[in-house]
Amino acid sequence: MQTRLFVRRRLFALIVLGIETSCDDTALALLEYGEGFRVMGGVLSSQISDHAPFGGVVPELASRKHQENILPLLRALLSKTGTEPRGVDLIAVTAGPGLMGSLLVGVMTAKALAQAWRVPVIGVNHLEGHIFANMLAHPKLEPPFICLIVSGGHTELVLSRGTGEYELLGATRDDAAGEAYDKAAKLLGLGYPGGPVIEKLARDGNAGAFDFPIGLGNSRIAEFSFSGLKTSLRTAVQRLPADELPIADICASFQRAVTESLTRKVKLAVKNTGVSKITVSGGVAANTSLRETLAGEGSRRGWEVYLPPREYCTDNAEMIAAAGASAYSRGARSDMRLTPNPSWELW
Ligand code: KG4
Ligand code: ZN
Repeated sequence: MQTRLFVRRRLFALIVLGIETSCDDTALALLEYGEGFRVMGGVLSSQISDHAPFGGVVPELASRKHQENILPLLRALLSKTGTEPRGVDLIAVTAGPGLMGSLLVGVMTAKALAQAWRVPVIGVNHLEGHIFANMLAHPKLEPPFICLIVSGGHTELVLSRGTGEYELLGATRDDAAGEAYDKAAKLLGLGYPGGPVIEKLARDGNAGAFDFPIGLGNSRIAEFSFSGLKTSLRTAVQRLPADELPIADICASFQRAVTESLTRKVKLAVKNTGVSKITVSGGVAANTSLRETLAGEGSRRGWEVYLPPREYCTDNAEMIAAAGASAYSRGARSDMRLTPNPSWELW
């Protein structure tokens, strides 16, 4: 093991297997880390159709599906990339935050592979993974930067002063932005996950049709709130006849409120920190309204705005491999005592 790592390091390349099972996607990827990150290949099995009938993720079902999927996906990844197990130098696995049962499948598999292949394993924070999704597409991106993390479980503004250094600027007081999309879609009978379907329907709607509230919109604190928006949406829907709901207008107005709320707090974070390099991460970063609004604000205000390609916004293993490779190269280590931490905080 030591010899192989030594030889690879001399060639400035580390082949990293990334494993992500924190929620409802089983994902594995191989990445080469040398001068920068080079994705060799990735595989992903989404459980959307398994959870859709329940309107959200069912934890027990998620872990069972991860167990079924993980080894077939590993075989598919090795064959797709033409990689032998002996070609892998490091295993990076999401160890938290996330669902305990789901995390366990990834962590136990990673540890078993690490022992069988005699390579090191490193536990990665899922949120740091989301931040590293930006580095996959923008290899020259360096701190300091502000990260807006917007996913199904998280809405946070984080300041990264140095690689691997994070300071929380503010978070949501209630629902996460993705959760707000999911709850809105459920209320409108649009299925799960809510973000993509609301975005699609919003294209034909009038974003000014409903005056939905911007949570904590005028507050000078970089915190978010989406519960008032959810209540306001429910009230609007209840007032209208069920068969005459202007779904497209509702979706467009809802999306405008979420985008506006996120953008206002990014502006505030830039003002408070003096840092005008912005990265956006997590499933909601795939949203076109948010991408275009932040990019537009960026060009007007002279910010540098970095957005990952859409496939790296939602959960994936490439971002976990990248964060793990970077942490490993900075000296971070895990061992066989690695256990999942469902509420692992990054800051
Ligand atoms: O990062 P992610 O895949 O999983 C978590 O770590 O939570 O994010 C999933 C969330 C879901 O709430 C989903 O509705 C939202 O991201 N999402 C979107 C879009 N695509 C996914 N929200 C708005 N617009 C989208 N296009
Ligand atoms: Zn995520």
